[in-house]
Amino acid sequence: MKRKVTKAVFPVAGLGTRFLPATKSIPKEIMTLVDRPLIQYAIDEARAAGIKEFIFVTSRGKGALEDYFDHAHELEANLRKAGKEELLEALKDTNMESGAIAYIRQHKALGLGHAVWCARRLIGNEPFAVILPDDVIAAEKPCLQQMVEAHAEVGGNMVAAMEVPPEKASAYGVLDIKDDMGSMVSVKGMVEKPKPDEAPSSLAVIGRYILTPKIMQNLNRMKSGAGGEIQLTDAIADEIKKSGNVYGYRFRGQRFDCGSKAGFLQATVAFGLAREELHDEFKQFLVGMTAMQKAAE
Ligand code: UTP
Repeated sequence: MKRKVTKAVFPVAGLGTRFLPATKSIPKEIMTLVDRPLIQYAIDEARAAGIKEFIFVTSRGKGALEDYFDHAHELEANLRKAGKEELLEALKDTNMESGAIAYIRQHKALGLGHAVWCARRLIGNEPFAVILPDDVIAAEKPCLQQMVEAHAEVGGNMVAAMEVPPEKASAYGVLDIKDDMGSMVSVKGMVEKPKPDEAPSSLAVIGRYILTPKIMQNLNRMKSGAGGEIQLTDAIADEIKKSGNVYGYRFRGQRFDCGSKAGFLQATVAFGLAREELHDEFKQFLVGMTAMQKAAE
């Protein structure tokens, strides 16, 4: 029987330089989309997929992230006294069961592969998920849940994939496809940030993975790759060569790159419009803004 995926690694040790100066003191993952920090969206998605153990790979200056998951007793008591049940309910999602959450330090930002490797002892010999909180995905069924269900059928390693235009491929890890089975593809190679004319397909990897513990062994031996960083893509590409059991999963949903300013703003608009209590006022504002922009052009 294939082992259930119950552990997830959240690499949050990056420097977040694209959001400087904000990220000088605020971790990127605490920045808010409407009224919830990015990390909350990632946690909710993991919970929906059946994840029970949450492993954060953090770094210096990420204290606000750890505080976020603490119980705020005084605040809760005040809200209870004031009868603010709805707000108490909203806080509930931020609470973690004791022992369900672990923090590991990545002492130097040596790359995503290195960050994942830092969690090796907590992962042990189990399959595990990796969620990059700056990729926020709006989907009817949460993306990781879709993947966990597909993974229960095929096992092995699975990466979330989406079609990108050729001129954008150089910003992603790109899949070299062996067999295309529709929502899933089997993969014969993977290239991190290929030059525009060297991308093997238009199917790009985004920040959701289900990986076997062998990936940790591959990372043990990794040297720095593209951009001088230890790349997770290289460890997965290694696994393709050794065992071939790597799949791309075309998830259903819309992904926002909240690690970039444009992506974050787009997500703010999409998630703002999706909120019933904000929808009408926000839409009216956007329509007015668009008309003003057009008139000015
Ligand atoms: P990014 O490539 O977005 O890098 O990392 P970054 O440092 O977060 O942001 P910029 O590019 O400087 O603006 C993708 C994911 O990998 C994590 C990041 O925290 C983010 O979730 N990461 C990256 C690490 O945990 N450690 C690293 O050494 C590098």
